[in-house]
Amino acid sequence: MGHVIATANMKGGVGKTTLSVNLATCLAKNHGQRVLVLDLDTQISATLSLMSPVDFASRRKKRKTFRHLIDQIITPGDAADFTIQDIIQREVCKLPGLNLLPGDIDLYDEFVVSELLHQQALNVGEKDFETIWNRFERILLGKILEPIRNDYDFIILDCAPGYNLLTRSALATSDYYILPAKPEPLSVVGIQLLERRIAQLKDSHEHEQKIETKMLGIVFTMLSNNLLNGRYYKQVIHRVDQDYGKEKVCQNQIPIDVNVAKAVDSFMPAVLNSPNSAGSRAFVALTQELLQKL
Ligand SMILES: Nc1ncnc2c1ncn2[C@@H]1O[C@H](COP(=O)(O)OP(=O)(O)OP(=O)(O)O)[C@@H](O)[C@H]1O
Ligand SMILES: [Mg+2]
Repeated sequence: MGHVIATANMKGGVGKTTLSVNLATCLAKNHGQRVLVLDLDTQISATLSLMSPVDFASRRKKRKTFRHLIDQIITPGDAADFTIQDIIQREVCKLPGLNLLPGDIDLYDEFVVSELLHQQALNVGEKDFETIWNRFERILLGKILEPIRNDYDFIILDCAPGYNLLTRSALATSDYYILPAKPEPLSVVGIQLLERRIAQLKDSHEHEQKIETKMLGIVFTMLSNNLLNGRYYKQVIHRVDQDYGKEKVCQNQIPIDVNVAKAVDSFMPAVLNSPNSAGSRAFVALTQELLQKL
């Protein structure tokens, strides 16, 4: 069975999506792995990093996005009758092995979810609403991915910033999570907050099926070459080494590189668009390091 890996940090804009799509691409391109990227963020950055806005708009018109898989669970009967296999876009960026489950700018309505779960609680006579809610979170993504879980060596879940229902479900169904962070205090606070939330999540599910996800590594991203910054970065990274253990902090860091940011313009990750750039080389090395950790 393959690995399910979530990319998460409470803090926004720390490079989660850029890491997800470049890691997925390296795994397919350099290691011959079968990889699926699932975009769990309504900003659809992962989707638009691997597919043009025109292609996305045409898929959305046909209702072939992740939204309809959630709909099938939340509002069965109303939802379009597509399977997950119909929705997955194969060989994105013309790269064999690289597949995308496109996200959507509109994924689910919290009110509808609450109503559904409230009804379920009444039906089964469960007085503790939290138990029903926790069970729903734990199985939501696992249930959606079940039919294709064995078709892939890696499923990468690109989480939104913060800690919403889909992030909790991604953590609950994943084998590992990766924490990208900028070497800045607020981004590091994002790591601490997420770690605390994951501990709470594991606690709250302890009596039912246990949540087993493990931290694969903290990846420092967007480091500038400025020497003055360099000294400051080292201090922040040293603090994180001490807090989480050196073995949890990836040795390969991702530099700031304009080629990484502008790759989105060509609807493909930097490791395909500008493979010789410093950013791309760092993603290639990081992928090897993460594979070794696994
Ligand atoms: N190594 C890099 N060099 C230059 N720009 C980068 C690099 N990594 C990411 N960026 C840019 O920084 C911005 C934020 O990156 P990204 O979208 O990956 O972060 P995120 O954590 O997924 O954000 P969000 O929390 O909004 O989902 C993007 O515009 C991206 O192109
Ligand atoms: Mg993102």
